[in-house]
Amino acid sequence: MLRVAVVGSGPSGVYTAQGLVQQDPGVRVDVLDRLPCPYGLVRYGVAPDHEKIKSLQNTLRTVLEHERVRFLGGVHIGSGGVPAARLRELYHAVVYCVGAATDRHLGIPGEQLPGSFSATEFVSWYSAHPDAAADSFVLGARSAVVIGVGNVAVDVTRILARGAAELSPTDMPQPALTALTASRVTDIHMVGRRGPAHARFTTKELRELGTLPEAEVIVDPAELALDPAFADPAALPAVPRRNIEVLRGWAGRAPRGAARRIRARFFLRPVELLADGGRVGAVRFERTAPDGRGGVVGTGRYEEIEAQLVLRSVGYRGVPLEGLPFDAERGTVPQSAGRVLRGGAVAPGEYVAGWIKRGPTGVIGTNRPCAKETVTSLLEDAAALVRRELPGDPVDGLRALGVEPVEWAGWQAIERAEAELGASLGRGVVKLPDWESLRAAARGVP
Ligand SMILES: Cc1cc2nc3c(=O)[nH]c(=O)nc-3n(C[C@H](O)[C@H](O)[C@H](O)COP(=O)(O)OP(=O)(O)OC[C@H]3O[C@@H](n4cnc5c(N)ncnc54)[C@H](O)[C@@H]3O)c2cc1C
Ligand SMILES: NC(=O)c1ccc[n+]([C@@H]2O[C@H](COP(=O)([O-])OP(=O)(O)OC[C@H]3O[C@@H](n4cnc5c(N)ncnc54)[C@H](OP(=O)(O)O)[C@@H]3O)[C@@H](O)[C@H]2O)c1
Repeated sequence: MLRVAVVGSGPSGVYTAQGLVQQDPGVRVDVLDRLPCPYGLVRYGVAPDHEKIKSLQNTLRTVLEHERVRFLGGVHIGSGGVPAARLRELYHAVVYCVGAATDRHLGIPGEQLPGSFSATEFVSWYSAHPDAAADSFVLGARSAVVIGVGNVAVDVTRILARGAAELSPTDMPQPALTALTASRVTDIHMVGRRGPAHARFTTKELRELGTLPEAEVIVDPAELALDPAFADPAALPAVPRRNIEVLRGWAGRAPRGAARRIRARFFLRPVELLADGGRVGAVRFERTAPDGRGGVVGTGRYEEIEAQLVLRSVGYRGVPLEGLPFDAERGTVPQSAGRVLRGGAVAPGEYVAGWIKRGPTGVIGTNRPCAKETVTSLLEDAAALVRRELPGDPVDGLRALGVEPVEWAGWQAIERAEAELGASLGRGVVKLPDWESLRAAARGVP
C-alpha cells in the first residue's frame, strides 16, 4: 500500500489528500500540520465575519475523516522539528503544502516603528493563531492606514470598520473582540500605489465595504479620474470594470455622518513611515501617475496621512523549509508539475502543492486544480515509489523522535473546548488563542 505524507492541512493539503484517496484505492494518507488544528488559512486567515467561506471547513473535514486519511497535528517538519529527510524515510512520498507563512516587506524607512504591523500579524491576532504575539493594534489609534489594495487589505479594513454588534457573533478570540469593540479608530485609509483599474481586490469584497452598518466609504472622484481607464471602463476585463463601477458609485457622495469612514485612495506610493513620540504618527506617500504600461511613475509631489496604526498588506511570502530546496526570489519551492526539483532534477518522492508551489495568490478553489496536477504526477510515479519497504507505522517513527501527534480525537476535543468557552461567554464558538490552551484542550484537560 502506498503511504503518503501531506505536510500542511490547508486547502492545498486537504485537496491533495482528497485527490489521492479518490483516485487510488490503495493509498493511505497522513496529513501532518505543525498546529494542533487543521484547515490552514481557512481557519487562520479567512475573516471571522465571513461565516459562509469559513463553513468550507465542513467540506474539508469530510476529507480528513476519510477512512484512509489520518490527521496528525502538532507535527512540525523542518528546523527544530522532524527533519525532512527522516519524514521521507517514513513514507513512500511526501507532498509539501505548507503555504506562505510570512509577509512581504516594503523596504522603506520607519517600517518597523511601533504601531506599524503587517496585515499578517493583525489577521493572526483576530484569527487566534497561537503564534500571534502583538495585541496592541488599535490601542490609542484614531486613524489607520492600510497599505495595499488586495483582498487581505479589504479584510483588515472591514474588520477595523465593524462595530461590536457585528463582531460579537464571530468566533474571534475574546481579547481581540474586547480590543476591537473598544477601538476609537474613526478613519481607515486603504491606499493603492496604482490606480483602481489595477487594484487586486475582487468586486464582491469591495462592494461589501459599502454595506457596513457603522461605516461609510469615501472616494475622491478626482483621484479616480487619474486612471485613464476611468473614462472608458468598458474596455477593461470584468473584475476591474466592475470595481470601477462600484467606486464610481461611491465617488463624490455627500458624507452621511457614519461613526467610521473608509477612504479608498489610489496613486499613492508609500515612501516613509513618520514617527511621532516614538511611534508611527503618519505615512508619507508620493503621488504617482500611470506610465501607460500598467505601472506608475513618481511625480515628485508628496502627501502625508495621519496614522497611529499602519497595516502593511502587500502580500505574503513563502518561507524556506530546512531540507527542501527554495527559490528565494519567488519564495517558492522549485518544481515541475508538482515534482520538487533539486538542482534542476526531479527529487523522487517529493512534491509540492498550493501557495508554496505557485506563490501566494489565488482563492481557496484555485488550490484544487493545483493539487490535482500534483496528485497526477505522484500517482504516475507511484509504481516506482511503492517498491521501497517502509519501517512500519509512521506514527511510531514520529514518536521515536519524541513527537506525540494530536490525532483527530484531540482536534475534536479542541472543538468541544471552543464551544464550551463560547457558551461560558454567552457567544457562539470562540477560538482558543494560545498554544497552552490548545494543547490542554487536545489532551482533554478542562
Ligand atoms: C488573510 C487571508 C484571507 C483569505 N481569505 C480568503 C477567502 O475569504 N476566500 C478565499 O477563497 N481565499 C482566501 N484566502 C486565500 C486562501 O486562504 C489560500 O488560497 C489558501 O489558504 C492557500 O492554501 P495552502 O494550503 O497553500 O496554504 P495554507 O492555507 O496557508 O496552509 C498551510 C498549512 O501548512 C502548515 N505548515 C506550514 N509549515 C509547516 C511545517 N513546517 N510543518 C508542518 N506544517 C506546516 C500550516 O500550519 C498551515 O496549516 C485568504 C488568504 C489570506 C492570507
Ligand atoms: N475574500 C477572498 O476571496 C480573499 C480574501 C483574502 C485574500 N484572498 C486571496 O489571497 C491572495 C493574497 O491576497 P493579498 O491581498 O495578500 O495579496 P495581493 O492580491 O497580491 O495584493 C497585494 C497588494 O499589495 C500591493 N503592494 C505590493 N507591494 C507593494 C509596495 N511595495 N508598496 C505598495 N503596495 C504594494 C499590491 O499592489 P500592486 O498590484 O501595485 O503590486 C496589491 O495592491 C489573493 O489571491 C487574494 O485574492 C482572497
